[in-house]
Amino acid sequence: MSAAPSTPTYGEVTNQGASTNIAWHQASVDRAARALQRGHRSAILWFTGLSGSGKSTLANAVNSALFERGLSCYVLDGDNVRHGLCKDLGFSDTAREENIRRIGEVSKLFLDAGVVVLTAFVSPFKADRDKARALVEAGDFIEIHCAADLAVCEERDTKGLYAKARTGEIKEFTGISSPYEAPASPELLVHTGSQNLEESVATVVAYLEIHGIITAPAS
Ligand code: ADX
Repeated sequence: MSAAPSTPTYGEVTNQGASTNIAWHQASVDRAARALQRGHRSAILWFTGLSGSGKSTLANAVNSALFERGLSCYVLDGDNVRHGLCKDLGFSDTAREENIRRIGEVSKLFLDAGVVVLTAFVSPFKADRDKARALVEAGDFIEIHCAADLAVCEERDTKGLYAKARTGEIKEFTGISSPYEAPASPELLVHTGSQNLEESVATVVAYLEIHGIITAPAS
């Protein structure tokens, strides 16, 4: 009896996946029409930073603030997306590259759908973030560096992963055994390691207002 087929790896899947004989179908409702109907433009808010730097917390808090203002918004979170769309991916450099490629493409769809999409991924490699940025027009991709010192993230160790990374139980852990390339010139630098959540949310919301992504509520 032959052995059961093993779970396909990401490499095998993508090798089978090259699409040919396809043509772009122009959508009858475009982004501009959606913006007009919703009363706000869409954007990608790309939160990057070490594990434990507060990306997910900040993205969710900003999302709540936007939602309360009646905006269409959605959070794509690294840990959550890895339960579904990206559950076939590990944490090698190549797997992270593919993870970020998929998220870049999904974010582009959200942008076209008229939604402010907030992505919370470590996204440690500059080249991968830049590729996601290059998928959309200038001004649509807002890179937000959640800056917190490794020592602070390790001290927090909310998921207990740093302790496991230090003993070697978890390999290729960002900041310990895998690099994090901090953005050189992000649209926004938020000091999530030192300031409180309220201050960080205010920083992001103010940026969005100043740059015309959202309008300030009438006072
Ligand atoms: S990314 O590097 O590909 O962008 P992603 O944001 O999707 O990473 O997932 C990171 C989350 O997975 C971390 O917040 C942490 O909870 C968990 N994780 C598990 N293993 C690792 C690892 N080796 N390196 C970093 N994060 C890890």
